[in-house]
Amino acid sequence: MSLDSLLDLVPVIPVVVVHDAADAVPIAKALVEGGLPVIELTLRTPAALDAIKRIADEVPEILVGAGTVVDSAQPEQAAANGAQFLVSPGSTPSLRAAMRDSGLPHLPGVSTVSEVLTLLEEGYTELKFFPAEQAGGAKYLRAIHSPVPAARFCPTGGITPANMGDYLASPNVGCVGGSWLTPADVVGRKDWAEVARLARTAKAAAEAF
Ligand code: 3PG
Repeated sequence: MSLDSLLDLVPVIPVVVVHDAADAVPIAKALVEGGLPVIELTLRTPAALDAIKRIADEVPEILVGAGTVVDSAQPEQAAANGAQFLVSPGSTPSLRAAMRDSGLPHLPGVSTVSEVLTLLEEGYTELKFFPAEQAGGAKYLRAIHSPVPAARFCPTGGITPANMGDYLASPNVGCVGGSWLTPADVVGRKDWAEVARLARTAKAAAEAF
């Protein structure tokens, strides 16, 4: 899988919160089975770094990244645990420096045109748009395309199977991200077949757009 572009790997990047690191490997395997071999493991729980390490060690067929990168120590920690890419909901100059220093491909988060222009000046062309629905949704992203065509986005935040198509139809959207593939109740009852089914359904729907 080429990492030249994080936006062109899969149409839907699963954004995953893991409370028990033991769930990480079966979730990763279910996503691979469902045809989405990319996982953004959010650094929102104490189990997250261990979860990333377990996936990196035991499920080499998936590309594992660290999401919710919000402080400058996290990029190096994530890389040391096997993360292959980084995603941040927003960024500061020092956070972007830390992400660059990790050597990993990364998607800094933006939600305004001025942030988009700032990051383009720094050489970024691939960005996360967060929180997508609350920050203006698919119409907002489409409106940015005309004045700022060089920027491409992975919107996340409030994306569902129902609105996914509106985003994917915008010329500056490479893929979408979301947590709906691993709902807390499904993970809670360890229903890995359901995770695989949700991934398969999302992929098929996304490819139809
Ligand atoms: C993220 O970190 O990208 C978001 O929390 C995902 O948003 P969602 O839970 O609304 O899909």
